[in-house]
Amino acid sequence: MISLIFNQIFKLSATTSIINSHIQEMEKLVSSWCKNKPLPESYIFPPETRPGNLVVPTCNSIPVIDLSKAEGQNRTHTVQQILKAGQEYGFFQVVNHGVPESLMNESMDVFKEFFEMPWEDKAMLYSEDPKNSCRLSTSSVNYAREKIHHWRDNLRHPCHPLQSCIKHWPQKPTRYREVVATYTIEAKKLGLRILELVSEGLGLESRYFGDKLSESEILSINHYPPCPDPSLTLGVAKHCDPNLLTLLHQGDVGGLQVFNNGEWIGVEPLHDAFVVNIGNQLQIISNNKLKSVEHRVVTNSRVARTSAGLFIGPSEDSIIEPEKSLVDDSPFYRAFEFKDFLLHYFANLEDNEVVMGRFKLQA
Ligand code: OGA
Ligand code: NI
Repeated sequence: MISLIFNQIFKLSATTSIINSHIQEMEKLVSSWCKNKPLPESYIFPPETRPGNLVVPTCNSIPVIDLSKAEGQNRTHTVQQILKAGQEYGFFQVVNHGVPESLMNESMDVFKEFFEMPWEDKAMLYSEDPKNSCRLSTSSVNYAREKIHHWRDNLRHPCHPLQSCIKHWPQKPTRYREVVATYTIEAKKLGLRILELVSEGLGLESRYFGDKLSESEILSINHYPPCPDPSLTLGVAKHCDPNLLTLLHQGDVGGLQVFNNGEWIGVEPLHDAFVVNIGNQLQIISNNKLKSVEHRVVTNSRVARTSAGLFIGPSEDSIIEPEKSLVDDSPFYRAFEFKDFLLHYFANLEDNEVVMGRFKLQA
């Protein structure tokens, strides 16, 4: 009996000390300290990379593609629109895409609710170890090592295979698992549909990307609290996505900017659209026929912004190389294992030239 009580006390105090250490670490979350505080020095980007007061056109130049047209006579036209957008911008938005608007809204509500919960409900998920399979963190991948912090909190977890992943997902809000499981299944289906259209456009068989190349699915939810000085900092610094294809639900608040023709352009928030962008692997496999393009996130001083990206990518042991039928003269990249790409990517975040340079073949 005594040992039982002792065990209980011991267990309790171990849990308490885990929670205590989490509380200390969690104080780094932007949302936990930012209210009514000026922007700390550690969040100020150097003049070359800070957004400044530049008014960026939220122009209509990122193409908006109506996917309902892909099922009828206009399929070829839709395929061409996707390919052209992928070549010119690396980005496009899709509407009438088949993911119910109610599901998109409900997911966005759950994501927002998650970040609004009191810290006790989130403490167990906070982790500074990038290997953790579901983790709440802040800033970029490595808070301790980075020179400048980013104005965002982030929750990310894998979604496939669902059965083994879901038990690591947040238990609160209570409907999180149910809603997000349905959401990720539907969004993945949409991703595969877009990849089929891409394959058709490239002249590949329609299931080309359907297996190992799109096996991994990571959901990354960003929360950007209102920021005291958006001209000096960034929510996410410029980067390309390392995966195959990203589907982003950006809700109603803008902030995403894409680098195009030497300038930053804003991606207009369209309520029920997905923003789609080409990842590094799709650029490599297509031998530069599609481009993964640098993008960043600026903050705003009025409202919090929540966005959710579904990163569809290869399994880590996939061998990636330019598809032979897409090589006109010579391939631009050598073959490599995807896990090597990821290692190199995370060591050189923010420098896409360096990341891609390692896998390039000399011309
Ligand atoms: C990302 C990203 C964009 C956004 O997480 O890779 O580019 O609008 N996010 O949050
Ligand atoms: Ni990105």
